[in-house]
Formats: sequence, C-alpha cells, structure tokens
Amino acid sequence: MGEVLTLREVSGPAPPGTDDVVVRMIASTVNPSDVLTIAGAHGSRTTFPFVPGFEGAGVIESAGCGVPRELIGQRVLPLGSAGSWQQLRCADWRWCVPAPADLPDEIARFAHINPLTAHLMVERFCTRAARNVLITGASTTIAGHLAELLAARGITSAGLHRGAPGRAWPHRGLWRCLVTTDRPGWAQQVRDSSQGGFDGV
Ligand SMILES: NC(=O)c1ccc[n+]([C@@H]2O[C@H](COP(=O)([O-])OP(=O)(O)OC[C@H]3O[C@@H](n4cnc5c(N)ncnc54)[C@H](OP(=O)(O)O)[C@@H]3O)[C@@H](O)[C@H]2O)c1
Repeated sequence: MGEVLTLREVSGPAPPGTDDVVVRMIASTVNPSDVLTIAGAHGSRTTFPFVPGFEGAGVIESAGCGVPRELIGQRVLPLGSAGSWQQLRCADWRWCVPAPADLPDEIARFAHINPLTAHLMVERFCTRAARNVLITGASTTIAGHLAELLAARGITSAGLHRGAPGRAWPHRGLWRCLVTTDRPGWAQQVRDSSQGGFDGV
C-alpha cells in the first residue's frame, strides 16, 4: 500500500452544508475492504485519488442548519463512504450512527463492517435449527464474531485455519475445535469434528 498512499496536509473542510456534519475522527481501522479498494479492485466505483477508510469513530464538531443540535459533541460512526483516514471528515448526519457510550473507542471503530456482516449472516442463514457449523478462515476477525453470535444461540463452531505461527485465540472457549490445515490429517480431523455432518459452512 505504501507505493500508492500519500500523507497530505490539507486545509480543513469547508463549513458543513445543510445536512452535513464535520466529524473529528478519533480512531479508524484498516479493514480488508480498504486494502481491496486501494488496490483498485473496485475500479468501477472508485475515483482516484480518494481518502480511504470505510470505518472509524469520531465526534461531531460542527453541523449544518438542518442537523439536530443535540448531535454536536456526539460520538458517531460515519457510514456509507470512505474517508475515515483523515482527522476531520464531512458526512451526511443521517449516515452517522451514534456509538453507545459504554463502547470504548478501540471497539467502536470496529463496530460496523465485520459485526454487521456476521450478524446478517447468522440471521439470514441460521434460519433452521443448526447444531454443527464449520467456519473457514477461523483466524479472521469476522470468524470470531460469527463464533460469538452462534455461541449465543447455543451453537459451538468448528474452525478451520491455516495455522499462522504465533496466532493468539482471544476467545478460544467459543470453538468446539480448531483444525489447522498445515498439519497432516487435517481433513480427517474435520470429518471427525463434523459429528455426522455440518449443518452449515
Ligand atoms: N462482503 C462483506 O460485506 C464483508 C464484510 C466483512 C468482511 N469481509 C471479508 O472477509 C474477509 C475477512 O475479513 P476480516 O476483517 O475478518 O479479516 P482479518 O481479521 O484481517 O483477517 C484476515 C485473515 O486472512 C488470513 N490470511 C491473510 N493472508 C492469507 C493467505 N495468504 N492465506 C491464508 N490466509 C491468509 C490471515 O490469517 P492468519 O491468522 O493465518 O494470518 C488473517 O487472519 C476479508 O476478505 C474481508 O474482505 C467481507
């Protein structure tokens, strides 16, 4: 990414339009969707140059005349477009989701892409009684969310991962078993863990 990213000092945004707010970003993430977009994977919908950053949390600093006044000073997640990798970003207030006060900044900044995707996957695809789920890419952040949401439904997941050295498993107890694909016999281990068949992968 270093070959195409440039850090620039720019003057602050213009005064916000009627429905716009200026958000002072506190914490942003580097999500795989940022990396893909910067790499040009979504060329048809990306105009370069652009400010990356699909998610992050910040505080509304100023607002246009159409914005409810109580939102000024509110910590929000500006959604719907890139632009979180800057100190001040302009956004439509209707796309700014308030961040619950009990969520620390370092969690709030991640509270959009992966948790919502995992939530939708579980809501849409776990419609029948599932007992046994296999999650590939188990070391990813989104897999952790899936395992947590499934556990809340009483389902413990089997996880498949490539076995990167030094990988820490913060929520190890959520997994019924974790199978590493860089070890011989992993396919048999998956079969054994399926307990007669997976209800979902
Ligand atoms: N369409 C959507 O709405 C949507 C939403 C959310 C996420 N996603 C996608 O879901 C995926 C995971 O996202 P995330 O945020 O959870 O990612 P993440 O936490 O950054 O995890 C990325 C994982 O990829 C693994 N990895 C990297 N290079 C690899 C390689 N060469 N071979 C095998 N594994 C490799 C790493 O495994 P190690 O632990 O072994 O290093 C790492 O755990 C991404 O592709 C993301 O774009 C899509």
